[in-house]
Amino acid sequence: MSTDERLTDPRRLAARPPADFCPVLDVERVRRDFPILRRTVHGRPLVYLDNAATTQKPRVVIDALVRFYEQHNANVHRGIHTLAEEATEAYEQARRRVAGLVGVDDPSRLVFTRNTTEALNLLAHAWAAPRLAPGDVILLTEMEHHSNLVPWQFVARRTGAELRFIPIDATGHLDLDSLDRLLTPRVRVLSLAHASNVLGTINPVARIAEQVRASAPQVRVFVDAAQSVPHMPVSFAALGCDALAFSGHKLYGPTGIGALVATSELLQECDPWLGGGEMIDTVTFTTSTYAPPPLRFEAGTPNVADAVGLAAAVEYLESFGMERVWQHTQCLSEYAWHRLAELPFMRVLGPGERGSRAALVTFADAEAHPHDLATLLDRDGVAIRAGHHCAMPLHERLGLPSSARASFGLYNSREEVDHLIESLLRARRFLGCHD
Ligand code: ALA
Repeated sequence: MSTDERLTDPRRLAARPPADFCPVLDVERVRRDFPILRRTVHGRPLVYLDNAATTQKPRVVIDALVRFYEQHNANVHRGIHTLAEEATEAYEQARRRVAGLVGVDDPSRLVFTRNTTEALNLLAHAWAAPRLAPGDVILLTEMEHHSNLVPWQFVARRTGAELRFIPIDATGHLDLDSLDRLLTPRVRVLSLAHASNVLGTINPVARIAEQVRASAPQVRVFVDAAQSVPHMPVSFAALGCDALAFSGHKLYGPTGIGALVATSELLQECDPWLGGGEMIDTVTFTTSTYAPPPLRFEAGTPNVADAVGLAAAVEYLESFGMERVWQHTQCLSEYAWHRLAELPFMRVLGPGERGSRAALVTFADAEAHPHDLATLLDRDGVAIRAGHHCAMPLHERLGLPSSARASFGLYNSREEVDHLIESLLRARRFLGCHD
């Protein structure tokens, strides 16, 4: 068996799910909070399993957006009228609330961005590009989303630095035995996903960061936490990284708002990135001085309403307790992994052992194309994602042109996983696949 076959061979684990699968949250109650879950698709109840792409929004988030626009809308940090003061207070309160989600008390360490992608681009352009030189190394992993790869390709092209990659092993984990060899004195950045959006693997960032500190203290560690922060307790301090990025829309908040959380030292080291209003201290016709972080990195009118909406989403999410949120989505992804792995024609990607995966399962059918499956599932009301999931190099590494992915959230149930499996089997029959 080749390495790549072993990488995704379902037989390496018992295909029988453990007996104690029980969603931890009261799903029926949670579902009442999400208006969109009442709708049907093609006459069928919506089974929304595309949460890694974006989550649905609870009523409290929608209400927070409406309330902001109906009651408090104004520009921030500029006016001295009542609405401007209320909007500024709401925006800065949102910063405190969102920073608190990752255990950070100092709100000046959180920069609002559009999403994870923009936060990672900020690190690449404002921290790395001005200081890397030919011969320096940017260390990534083979499982990165394009948002944690393409910005570093820009930096490499601009500075002459070289990209290197921590490989994945046969189980879909990072091959950490290679880390000692890869951490040479020329490495300046290690940027990696906390949880893979394809394999689902949760990477041991704290352990990796510790190894980096011990053997290559010149390296800055950046973390793409888009697929972890919405589903598990994440502490910036416990990870031991220099910067962490996540998106609001994947944690039940609005689109168009995300966060970069970093150490104060790292933010001080970053060059200004986008220029304009808000990010300056003084300006003459020929030169400017800049505001301290975080405003230095928030040029122009920020996305105030969506920051307020994101704070409402964080409050909602935290009301369940992040440990219970983690257990709930763990139950579902583990159950789905086992249900899929027992199908002999299905290649299920990534690790299956308990506690090792984020809230998603990616699979490739030996006969049916992922796009055909996703189209037929949609006719059953089941929403999954098909394609390369913005991870083309990883798919190439796995020898797959594309795959299908089911991903879970607070409102998903074990019955919906069963529905996914039944719908997949129906789709295969329709396509004339073998049993
Ligand atoms: N990054 C999102 C995903 O993996 C869009 O689907």
